Amino acid sequence: MQIRIVAEDPAGADVAWLVTGLFEDGPAPPAWVREPAARELFANLVESKDLSASPGDASALHGMSGIRAASLLVAGLGPREAFDAGSAFDLGVLVGKRLGGRPRGAVGLVLPEAGMPAEVASRLVQGAIVGTAGPGLAKSEPARYAFEELRLILPPGSTADPALVDRAMARGAIVGRAINLARELVNLPPARKTPRLLADRIRIEAGAAGLEVEVWDEARIRRERFGGLLGVAAGSDEPPSFVTLHWNGAGPEAPHLALVGKGVTFDSGGLSLKPSASMEDMKADMSGAAIVAAAMTAIARLRLPVNVRGYLALVENMSGGRAMKLGDVLSMRNGKTVEVMNTDAEGRLILADALSFAAEQAPTRMVDLATLTGSCVVALGTKVAGLFANDDETAELVRESATAVGERVWRLPMDGDFRESLKSPVADLKNVGSKWGGAIVAAKFLEEFVGGRPWAHLDIAGPAWAESDSPARDAGGTGCFVRTLVRMAEEAGEP
Ligand code: BES
Ligand code: MN
Ligand code: ZN
Repeated sequence: MQIRIVAEDPAGADVAWLVTGLFEDGPAPPAWVREPAARELFANLVESKDLSASPGDASALHGMSGIRAASLLVAGLGPREAFDAGSAFDLGVLVGKRLGGRPRGAVGLVLPEAGMPAEVASRLVQGAIVGTAGPGLAKSEPARYAFEELRLILPPGSTADPALVDRAMARGAIVGRAINLARELVNLPPARKTPRLLADRIRIEAGAAGLEVEVWDEARIRRERFGGLLGVAAGSDEPPSFVTLHWNGAGPEAPHLALVGKGVTFDSGGLSLKPSASMEDMKADMSGAAIVAAAMTAIARLRLPVNVRGYLALVENMSGGRAMKLGDVLSMRNGKTVEVMNTDAEGRLILADALSFAAEQAPTRMVDLATLTGSCVVALGTKVAGLFANDDETAELVRESATAVGERVWRLPMDGDFRESLKSPVADLKNVGSKWGGAIVAAKFLEEFVGGRPWAHLDIAGPAWAESDSPARDAGGTGCFVRTLVRMAEEAGEP
């Protein structure tokens, strides 16, 4: 998809499709619709609500007089004052999904006038790249096609600086492709992304982006005493992998940010076997790892002036003959012992090792992402991630970054009493406690392994996966929080 910006009269643009937004306060029609007949038609359709200004609504008009493009798509944008980075992204996805079902030539998108032109342009491009890629990896015929050209049109009178907007679009494209990488990895069938296959793929993607990559095999993982990762891996014929990614954008002496991802390539529950319906989406249980890897490819391609390290714990949770059993005790990387009381609480076991190891490298902050608990989905629904932290500043950094890009998090408490139910009679702690506040109990478990470092945990069990299709989102892996992580790295690079 060729992406470019052109300052021109939208009515005269030589494109197959022209897309324009409609704010609740108009103007309807926009000033560049000049033919009186076309102006009247547009105004009547708005009046009769056949053209809607609600976000998610979009209507096509064909053969409008005075408009060179054969087809016009009018997309609802809601109230102008509420239009933000998230709305621009959603608009881009909607356009991509709506028009990407067939091969298209040039698609012209009139830049909505709501301030922050570079930011809006960047998010529109991200969204269009995401929307023109569908989840149908294994379809015989592709269900979605990238546009030949995506042209952002600055209409006459726009005060935006085309050079700045152009740069923002190029950066937006990098992030859009990273989101698609995360989605693709999540949407892969589990047999095609066993820990070793996934590590191979990430090695290739990360290497191409300019990241340093190190992959540990099972023998190395054993030498490094990652008892949690080995415990979970024991039930599978597939050995685990542990991947470290380095981006050194700020020089070797500068401090670094650590990102940790849960990479369970399939979660059957282990001996605490899940019922079949609960297993249907469990190929997505490696979303945290996919998102960290994808965000780091974007951070590298953007050449952000920061140091970031990514840690991905990859494993299959199966119920083979050597599977860990209830009552087994694991010795974790940081020396603590854990009594396994539910083999389906496996995410915290592998994150414990990854967080301990990440903490040893003395990062300034750590953030982990994990599809960790169904309890978090019960608490916050499918679109909001649970945010947990041992440090207010780190929590705020994550919250502000997410809000700035239009992703949703909600902080939950971590008071000391939530730790009590994790007490074990035989070991330092158990891997499960009270089911009430289960997402918080899980976060308290993780806290035992962060070595007192400033740390935040995002429970993305809800937002990582979309059950069904909607105008601005495909079903399947969502690539959520790639934008947030890139934004955080940008913030960390600010002096
Ligand atoms: N991967 C699941 C959590 C999950 C559930 C993600 C639903 C996405 C959708 C996790 O490993 C798990 O099984 N958690 C258990 C924990 C329990 C045994 C304490 C859960 O949430 O039921
Ligand atoms: Mn599980
Ligand atoms: Zn899991």
